[in-house]
Amino acid sequence: MKIRTYFIAGGAGFIGSNYVRHVMAKRPDCRVVVFDKLTYAGNRANLEDEIMDERLRFVQGDICDRFLVDREMRGCDVVVNFAAETHVDRSIHNPSAFIQTDILGTHVLLDAARKYGVKRYVQISTDEVYGSIEEGLFTETSPIQPSSPYSASKASADLLVLSYWRTYQMPVVITRASNNFGPFQHPEKLIPLFVTNAMDDKPLPMYGDGLNVRDWLYVEDHCRGIETVIEAGEKGAIYNIGGMCEKTNIEVTRKILETLGKPESLIRRVTDRPGHDRRYALACEPLVALGWRPLESWEVRMEQTIQWYVDRRDWWEALRSGEFEEYYRRQYPDLAKQPD
Ligand code: NAD
Ligand code: DAU
Repeated sequence: MKIRTYFIAGGAGFIGSNYVRHVMAKRPDCRVVVFDKLTYAGNRANLEDEIMDERLRFVQGDICDRFLVDREMRGCDVVVNFAAETHVDRSIHNPSAFIQTDILGTHVLLDAARKYGVKRYVQISTDEVYGSIEEGLFTETSPIQPSSPYSASKASADLLVLSYWRTYQMPVVITRASNNFGPFQHPEKLIPLFVTNAMDDKPLPMYGDGLNVRDWLYVEDHCRGIETVIEAGEKGAIYNIGGMCEKTNIEVTRKILETLGKPESLIRRVTDRPGHDRRYALACEPLVALGWRPLESWEVRMEQTIQWYVDRRDWWEALRSGEFEEYYRRQYPDLAKQPD
């Protein structure tokens, strides 16, 4: 497919900014509109040199703003929607923003994309829509059974997207990825939180018994998977994108501590997340059949990622101040009761 102009909603967040970088490196002839509200999770600094590139136009805006979305999407061929409230713990405290952005915002994007007859609308969804699985793997036909307000809002959006295919034959595709890690991830999430805490000898708040399992996907592999689906994916289809790399949280934490040369005594067991999904695990045959696979081992990608946070204190220190400090105190009251 000859793509000229991408409309990338949420392109200043973690995965979105890595995707913008990926696309601009791979497609010299592309144009990119990054449309992002710049919530606490969005950051112009994530776009580094790309923001100065004349192929990129940055628009600060809310995907729930119909007028602005309609104006800025004109002339775009492909819409990729990363924009969302994404942190499960925040959705437990305040679901409203999740319902607003993740569901209603998706509806606004779908309407504009339909009006402009885009060649592809890609909804970036998550494995969390399937809920938790004790054994085996989720496939694209597994039922959706979301646990948190976050995953319920993502699942709702998926249903809307599919309805635009069935009703209007809009060329949509949905990707459901597992847990991403890599550069530019907000320090509220497990890996960046534990790396940056460990660097400063602060406690690592482990929920429950630490035996919850996540399937870890390096962000660049996720970006390659999205491109594969845009190029060769079937209209109206769902594609799982998993890292094929299941780890318990304690295994991830030990890898971080070992790489940084820090002691296990930094681990603190804290009150578990309500409704905490025990295990996520994906089968990805349809994407693998299109020639996709992760390119490197988890160990190597973890070491590169940890080194990135070691080198980029300038980037994450700014995000750990202000609103984050208040969030942190509210989220981890147990830590205040325990000595460091
Ligand atoms: P993130 O929280 O780092 O970034 C979200 C971005 O969306 C931010 O730049 C934010 O400013 C923007 N945004 C939020 N509300 C907006 C609104 N109303 N209008 C416009 N922009 C808005 O998230 P992420 O981890 O990069 O996740 C990106 C997408 O991928 C999300 O849809 C998420 O559900 C999905 N996903 C994430 C993971 C993961 O492990 N992080 C895994 C699977 C799927
Ligand atoms: O699976 C895909 C999902 O992965 C995405 O859809 C979400 O947007 C993304 O945030 C992520 O969700 P998780 O809830 O799995 O990620 P998080 O980093 O918050 O937690 C990973 C695991 O680590 C989970 O079992 C909870 C645990 N955890 C997390 C934090 C922040 C802790 O034990 N302590 C913590 O402080």
